Amino acid sequence: MKLLLNINQVDHELEIAPGDSLLKALRSLGYFGVKHGCETGDCGACTVLLDGKPVNTCNLLAAQAESHRIETIEAVGQHPEQGWKTTAGLHPLQLAFVESGAIQCGYCTPAQILAAKELLYRNPAPTEAEVREALSGVLCRCTGYLKPVQAVLRAAAVLRGEAPEGITEQEWPFLPEEPGKGGPEIPFSPTPYLNPSEPQTLSRVMPRIQVTPRAMSWSSVGKPEPKVDAIKLVQGKPAYTADFERRGLLVAKVLHSPLAHARIKHIDASRARELPGVAAVLTWQDIPRVVYSTAGQSDPIPGPLDAFSLDNKVRFVGDRVAFVAAETEEIADQALKLIDVEYEPLPILLDPAEAMQPGAPRLHDEPEYVNFAESDPARNLAAHIRIDIGDVEKGFAEADYIFEHEYEVPKVQQAHIEPHVVITYWDEDDRLVIRTSTQVPFHVRRILAPVLGLPIKRIRVIKPRIGGGFGGKQEVLVEDVAAHLTIATGRPVIIEYSREEEFTAARSRHPMRVRMKTGVKKDGTLTANAMYALADTGAYGCHALTVTGNTGHKAMALYIGDGPYRKAPNIRFYADVVYTNHPPAGAYRGYGVPQGYWPVERHMEKIARQLNLDPLEFRLKNALRAGELHPFSTAWSEGREPRPETVETCGLEECVRQGKAVIGWDQKFGNPVWRESTGSSHLRHGIGVAMVMQGTAIPYLDMGGASIKMNDDGSFNLLVGATDLGTGSDTVLGQMAAEVLGVPLEDILVYSSDTDFTPFDKGAYASSTTYISGNAVARAAQLVADRIRWRAARMLNKLAPAGVAQLGPDDLRLANRQATAPDGRSVSLSEIGHHALHHADQEQIMGVASYMSPVSPPPFAAQFAEVTVDIETGQVRVDKLVMAVDSGVIVNPITASGQIEGGMTQALGYAVCEEMRYDEAGHAREVDLRDYHIFQAHEMPELETIFVETFEPSHPFGVKAVAEIPMDGVAPAVGNAILDACGAQVDDNPVTPEKIWRALKG
Ligand code: FES
Ligand code: FES
Repeated sequence: MKLLLNINQVDHELEIAPGDSLLKALRSLGYFGVKHGCETGDCGACTVLLDGKPVNTCNLLAAQAESHRIETIEAVGQHPEQGWKTTAGLHPLQLAFVESGAIQCGYCTPAQILAAKELLYRNPAPTEAEVREALSGVLCRCTGYLKPVQAVLRAAAVLRGEAPEGITEQEWPFLPEEPGKGGPEIPFSPTPYLNPSEPQTLSRVMPRIQVTPRAMSWSSVGKPEPKVDAIKLVQGKPAYTADFERRGLLVAKVLHSPLAHARIKHIDASRARELPGVAAVLTWQDIPRVVYSTAGQSDPIPGPLDAFSLDNKVRFVGDRVAFVAAETEEIADQALKLIDVEYEPLPILLDPAEAMQPGAPRLHDEPEYVNFAESDPARNLAAHIRIDIGDVEKGFAEADYIFEHEYEVPKVQQAHIEPHVVITYWDEDDRLVIRTSTQVPFHVRRILAPVLGLPIKRIRVIKPRIGGGFGGKQEVLVEDVAAHLTIATGRPVIIEYSREEEFTAARSRHPMRVRMKTGVKKDGTLTANAMYALADTGAYGCHALTVTGNTGHKAMALYIGDGPYRKAPNIRFYADVVYTNHPPAGAYRGYGVPQGYWPVERHMEKIARQLNLDPLEFRLKNALRAGELHPFSTAWSEGREPRPETVETCGLEECVRQGKAVIGWDQKFGNPVWRESTGSSHLRHGIGVAMVMQGTAIPYLDMGGASIKMNDDGSFNLLVGATDLGTGSDTVLGQMAAEVLGVPLEDILVYSSDTDFTPFDKGAYASSTTYISGNAVARAAQLVADRIRWRAARMLNKLAPAGVAQLGPDDLRLANRQATAPDGRSVSLSEIGHHALHHADQEQIMGVASYMSPVSPPPFAAQFAEVTVDIETGQVRVDKLVMAVDSGVIVNPITASGQIEGGMTQALGYAVCEEMRYDEAGHAREVDLRDYHIFQAHEMPELETIFVETFEPSHPFGVKAVAEIPMDGVAPAVGNAILDACGAQVDDNPVTPEKIWRALKG
């Protein structure tokens, strides 16, 4: 049918199918700022203004929008300078989102801005609660909403003609460190929001930071620079994988298994192939049978090879049965229904304890299966870990008390708002281009080459902007589907998962049952600590060994004991990672560590309470300290050879000191008056803590590279293989280059990542980018800086009058876009760049470097939580989360605090509401973002981040990881706060009202 749509005041005539959504129509016209995140109207990513009101376009028919005014992000504002033409510039909302750090992956940003624009039009002076309400229809999985809310309040002030709160250095709550003493304690200020219907967040852009003196003299590193990609994202530019047009693009769909375990007896795709508009249908009989692992990890993959693009057996509801490519999505859907499959059902295994019993049906009986280390498919074991440090039985024998208990953690989803999406095509050189939303472009290329029957050199992987990943895109999940279909048809192909497919056929966090056994002396000294984890990897063993290994490696390393036990700790970590007929688990931010800290920190709380010990002092007494050996460093290293590693920096004690002051621990903990000071007899306040540590990269394994070249205006191209999935890594890598080269960040043009053009990088995982890739960037920048100084010395010497001392390269300092000599003579970088390329001894000034780390310096944190529990209903409200973090030096306080806020928010879902559940036939109960609840803007507690800097000596800028550690402590801190409030001991998260109510009933 023909349709006339008025979009941004321009009429567009288009031909659509009657059932086409407005989202589809807008994107077909090139309005790529309108995003797809679901099909059910739950995420809000597809928001536009229809006659000035925000509407979801995914579930609105395009025909319904005729005769209405449609406004998209593309009309809100533009870059102010466009060559000889200037524009009105960005809208104050867009500017505020850029300046406030409200954009992480940016996938939700256009929708948030449009929703806020409507709010400010009808209400120029909204309260924070009104802003939160207006943003509540747009889900954001990255930010925790704090900075978007601040951005809207800031823009509102600008539009009213008022001066907004500044983001200047003077206003940062810097607390200079006193050597040897830490910083002055941050004063406790009672939370200003005691009424639960009032706003939940302090309106502050910057986090509190206790800075190391060394970092205070830098001009780019340590500063709140806006993200380098923010300007394009705030305009809704076509930056993501699916924002791409190519003639003849076919749409791919996957036929998923309706059964949890079955053999495919017979499959007939002939009816589907005959359907007009179908370009290809592929079954397991049509493509080569190549075994591989979908885990996006370095070579050799530390896990079994147990997957095929298509197999003659299905192992979970959602497993792949066939691929279809067709001219339209509707034809592809129709074709799926025409594929005839005869299944032979097999017994279903959903309980990992039963699945590993002798005689249990075997999930992986394929002869091609490749074992890695301790996997044993005959027992349905994807991995098997046995680590003993010291003499654990002797430690138990020396204890005065033994505490033993079992805990459970659920399967949860990454729920990035941009689904998995890939476009493949042959280029003019007959090379296969894979444009994909991935965290691991170089691993995609290496892993898929044998699967597709192509040499690595004939594959190019391009990673555009990513709309969130959180580990879910550290998986080679659907790249092969599109690639096989492009090979079969010779045509470009797009595959984009629906939200239901994300829940049923993507990856998740491993659920685990964990048993703790701990020996303790009367004075609170730990004598031995043991954990057994039974993990469910689902149908495939992707990340099975490494995720579960990290459960012990990070969570069981924190508490080593005191006195003689500090020098010789007794720690045991055993784990079995078992195949079942659940959808596969995989990588999810935190990578096994949140599963470990729920039991460890709930257990520590129980011990402290039963022995009447102060929970903070008890933990710190036994916690790892700077200068000590990481206890697991000699025992385990992701399936590789372990090597001893000393922890050089640990700010945990200072984190506890600052965090407890901010949350008012001394005023609240153990105070019955405060506990009952709710104004209602059925409500109770509670406060809880958890201490955590993570790692920074994988030592002796993962490597990142960087190259920098100088341009003739003194700007630089920084090319990195590192993958910014919304974290701001492009920005912090640019800041490090800018610091070394003495230029502002705007002179560093960052590009990531394309396997043809950027150096290799292992990708974005293991909290490694700032550390590993940052080290590579600093080294490459140093090479370039050395060459610039050499040329600058020559240029200045040539100009110097006779008798003036000759300068050497080391005499020159790079700052403010100049190379400056001690006597004040200087030459600008633009003169040097121009000179190098055009005038004398011409050369391209550039540097290439890479870095692999021999260590994995752990960040530490103290996580505090405050809750209110209704003891009659079990309802719990989390009122405040405070996290004090030692992540080394903070390169960018705004992006780093955004990581903490967003991480705490995801972890809050893990604490109280997120869980993927299945019926007895293995069908998922949660298949959309309505049933699987992630926090919305108006539901958030107050969030507060404190950075306690230390200087990690193994990095030129002293950094450690920041991205994963906020996932670790929220759940146990909330669980401990609930215990504190009402005595409800719930050992399996999420801690739902029903569980609390049952615990209270006894
Ligand atoms: S894409 Fe429309 S609400 Fe999710
Ligand atoms: S910034 Fe909101 S979903 Fe990523």
